[in-house]
Amino acid sequence: QQAKMTVDKDFVVGDVDDRIYGSFIEHLGRAVYGGIYEADHPTADEQGFRQDVLKLVQELQVPIVRYPGGNFVSGYNWEDGVGPVADRPRRLELAWRTIEPNWFGYNEFIDWCKKAGTAPMMAINLGTRGIDDARNLIEYSNHPSGSYWSDLRRSHGYEKPHDVKTWCLGNEMDGPWQIGSKTAVEYGRLANETGKVMKLVDPTIELVACGSSAKGMPTFPEWESTVLDLAYDVADYISIHQYYGNPKKDTPNFLAQSVGMDQFIQTVISTADYVQAKKRSKKKINLSFDEWNVWFHSNEQDRKLEPWTIAPPQLEDVYTHEDALVVGCMLISLLKRADRVKMACLAQLVNVIAPIMTRNGGPAWKQTIFYPFLHASLFGRGKVLVPLVKSDKYDSSEYTDVPYLEAIAVYAEEKEEVTVFAVNRSLDESLPLQVDLRSFGTGRVIEHIVLEHEDVKAVNTEEAPDRVKPHNGGNASVTENGRIEAVLAKASWNVIRVK
Ligand code: AHR
Repeated sequence: QQAKMTVDKDFVVGDVDDRIYGSFIEHLGRAVYGGIYEADHPTADEQGFRQDVLKLVQELQVPIVRYPGGNFVSGYNWEDGVGPVADRPRRLELAWRTIEPNWFGYNEFIDWCKKAGTAPMMAINLGTRGIDDARNLIEYSNHPSGSYWSDLRRSHGYEKPHDVKTWCLGNEMDGPWQIGSKTAVEYGRLANETGKVMKLVDPTIELVACGSSAKGMPTFPEWESTVLDLAYDVADYISIHQYYGNPKKDTPNFLAQSVGMDQFIQTVISTADYVQAKKRSKKKINLSFDEWNVWFHSNEQDRKLEPWTIAPPQLEDVYTHEDALVVGCMLISLLKRADRVKMACLAQLVNVIAPIMTRNGGPAWKQTIFYPFLHASLFGRGKVLVPLVKSDKYDSSEYTDVPYLEAIAVYAEEKEEVTVFAVNRSLDESLPLQVDLRSFGTGRVIEHIVLEHEDVKAVNTEEAPDRVKPHNGGNASVTENGRIEAVLAKASWNVIRVK
């Protein structure tokens, strides 16, 4: 097996919008309570925010975080989470069947975002609620003063508006599990009218309409077509969500899943462009891939949870090395369509299907998937170069012609650095790779980071937090004729940085 890649300075897919390295915090499991917030944790600051978690989030350089859900938002009354904590109600939370104590809410999230160096992406409830609450919330959040809701915010200690720019019009409204789920026509109309009113309050905001919850949904892609047809004027983005798993222990097929993600992205782009053509519109709708990850390890365990407790350990997937490879391939899929995927959220950030795990009262550590996300966030900013890839291929149970090499290159012009992200999907053989850098001329390899492990099922735990971690001993070098040559270890994630 071998692989070749050619990239050229002048062949650009698009500029990376940094917001593709976003993430997600939902009131679910221990994402908030025991995750970003734990008032009596030894590292908690005066607001109860865990400093150890904040540090790891800062390390990831996450530019935007979606909140407060997820399925949670479709039954949430945002007013429950503002004002004096002692007055906040304790509610039955129906999406995940827990008790929501409302110790943490909108204003705390905004404060946390500032400390984390990130921006909020707020979702509104279009399950049990609609236009009225959305207009109140945007007034509370973004209007300076002199009206009922903006003055209420000020009375809560927030003199200046939060000025939140990005808003999701509900969550996964096509899903039968969603509280208040809707048909595409019902949702499209509601999204349009709600978005219209929100933009009357603050015309500077950007809105994300709900696309399908997954490629396998029976209403995909008709849903996108109908929703955009009805909400084209107010929507700026259409959302796209996808999770993968390996329940059948078929790793070659699991590693091939991002091929399906490429197809999914392409179909949503085509559908958005079809509606654009129908409307004879100049406006293009871009994609917000605002939920993506591996999710399946915790499914069995979650079925056994007792309902109506506060912050139970839900969706606590412990990620393997092979999961990190899939996450790496998914990041490459996002980058490949940097021209149209403008936001994305790794779902989620802490404890709940997350790169960061904690123990209540104890430490925080990095899961395997932390690393590809970290590398892409740090080095994957700039211009994505057209990836001309030639690679030997294999067939998996669901996909034919899966390339062993999954790769993309990003050019950071100001730093004059090219970074190649590459996954070798082969489980048995290393992969000799040649990258022709053409117009870049000869450079030097700054480093070749490798994430590899003998056991693809290896995981990081509290006891062994560094079992799977990257090293920078990869063998990439630049030849005299301006080619990178490297041997990619079997089942590995690689980051080759050239200057
Ligand atoms: O991220 C976990 C859940 O997955 C979210 O609440 C929902 O939107 C999706 O189905």
